[in-house]
Amino acid sequence: MRKKAQGFRTIQLLILLTAGCVLLSTACAQEPVRKKDTKREPANNKTIKKESHSRSLKSAQSHEEKVPGPKLPENRGPTFYFPIIIKEDFPTVMSRMKEEKPKVMENQRSLLNDRYDLNDHPATGVTMSRGKPIQEGVRVKLPEQMTWEKLSEMSPEEIRNNDLFPKGFLPLPHVKHAVGGQVFPKFHSDEILKLEKRSLERFDVDFDIPDHFLPEFPPPIFLTTRPYLGDVSQGKLLSLKNYYEIMTGILTPVQMEGLRLLLTPFPQQQFNQTEDRLVEEASFGVSCLDCHANGHTNGAFHLNPDTRPNAARLRLDSPSLRGMFNQQIHGSKRSLRSIEDFTEFEQRTAYFDGDTVTAAKKGTNLPDRTSQVSFMAQMQNILDFPPAPKLDEFGMLDPEKASKEELLGQTVFFGKGRCGKCHPAPFYLDDKMHNLRVERFYNPRIIHDQWITAEGPIKTFTLRGIKDSPPYMHDGRLLTLEDTVEFFNLILNLKLTQEEKNGLVAFMRQL
Ligand code: HEC
Ligand code: HEC
Repeated sequence: MRKKAQGFRTIQLLILLTAGCVLLSTACAQEPVRKKDTKREPANNKTIKKESHSRSLKSAQSHEEKVPGPKLPENRGPTFYFPIIIKEDFPTVMSRMKEEKPKVMENQRSLLNDRYDLNDHPATGVTMSRGKPIQEGVRVKLPEQMTWEKLSEMSPEEIRNNDLFPKGFLPLPHVKHAVGGQVFPKFHSDEILKLEKRSLERFDVDFDIPDHFLPEFPPPIFLTTRPYLGDVSQGKLLSLKNYYEIMTGILTPVQMEGLRLLLTPFPQQQFNQTEDRLVEEASFGVSCLDCHANGHTNGAFHLNPDTRPNAARLRLDSPSLRGMFNQQIHGSKRSLRSIEDFTEFEQRTAYFDGDTVTAAKKGTNLPDRTSQVSFMAQMQNILDFPPAPKLDEFGMLDPEKASKEELLGQTVFFGKGRCGKCHPAPFYLDDKMHNLRVERFYNPRIIHDQWITAEGPIKTFTLRGIKDSPPYMHDGRLLTLEDTVEFFNLILNLKLTQEEKNGLVAFMRQL
């Protein structure tokens, strides 16, 4: 009896708390975990299944929520392990997911179209390092009747309360957020299929962002050890089939072995040999350079391994490995302190979503620290940024070479814009994580199965060679450099003029 009464009181308390949450929406959004600490959900099969990365999908919502508000249903997900025993057989899962795929892709297309102008508008007079056009202009759409000037006059509270924060500035969901996992652009999987006869095509989703917003492919390769050779890629994508021929006489045996390992596929959550995979035929797996193509990036994306439940995880756009030699912290949230640590743990955690249990089933690779990890690290550490001919030894513009607009941009960058506080020259990163507190501008909600809420501190990314690595931010939510300027103008309350904004873009294109 007493137990029952207590249970009843707990329920009453929960109802009160929930009502409180609705009223104090922002407070709840900022402290999503604490409020419900009392109610811990058991890790039963049903709850796991609901969150499962591979076996079941709540049908994705078809449009972004129109009404802003505290829509996060639960503050704590079920204890999160991926299932080991798969109840449905592989052909059944595959045919069901194939059937669902057109709808999944249509949902994501409508989300992207709602947020961005996706048209192909190349900029004139500037390209990526090997010649791919750069997309220009602000692509994030504004709410109706709004202008960037009007928006920048409003306070974060006003923007939040009137739901005026541009949707493209919100966290970007994975193409199938409830399932997540690695997704490769088609041009990359086509090339790997041609070279290695290995499929990187998932049967449940395709890549979502149009190619003209992605880095050039294959990207050039610059080496710190042989700067005068320029791009050593020969315009090819490095793969197990050609790396030796391309790099022989350029790399040391240690670097060559490191490169071989970086190109060797190993089993991964979606690409493996078990019935729990999302690729049609049993697969050798995925290699490091499948995402960090030619040591740069091809825009492949994933969910971050370090957040739970799945709905709270962040989409991650693969970063470039250029300039790794100068970075002290690695990963947007993990803050691993060395390239060796990252290399070692990437296969233990990121390949398997930070879940060591499924990893054991699917075949995790544990590279040896001295004879493998250090070789892979040494190879990564010689990947250089592309040349920036207008920069001096301090990473500042040479006034003889730079245009007036670029020089104005530099002044704004280190002055009124305060960009240089977190992106200091010469490497344009500060090896710190910062909390930009973007959630000041919006009410939490769910979009396509992702909890859109506070994201916490994120690592500052370098801006050297930045024109080569769209889309921008940890999740790739911003498609052009113009978008990043409008974003920081708003969230840092900078009140930049149009001329100053243009200057910043012109400056960043020279880094
Ligand atoms: C699905 C594509 C994918 C594969 C495969 C992959 N990575 Fe990554 N890599 C990423 C993403 C996404 C991040 C960003 C992680 C984050 O922000 O937490 C990243 C981050 C990194 C970083 C840190 C970069 C930084 O700026 O902080 C290093 C180093 C790295 N990867 C090396 C590797 C190595 C070595 C392998 C192979 C063992 C590998 N990656 C395999 C996508 C991939
Ligand atoms: C308080 C620190 C801080 C300031 C000030 C700041 N940034 Fe950043 N910047 C960051 C962080 C942190 C990220 C990564 C954020 C994320 O991914 O969510 C970032 C990301 C970026 C990116 C995307 C990088 C990439 O690889 O995707 C660009 C471009 C950028 N900042 C430009 C600027 C400009 C221009 C300014 C000034 C107008 C500026 N930043 C001011 C911290 C800062």
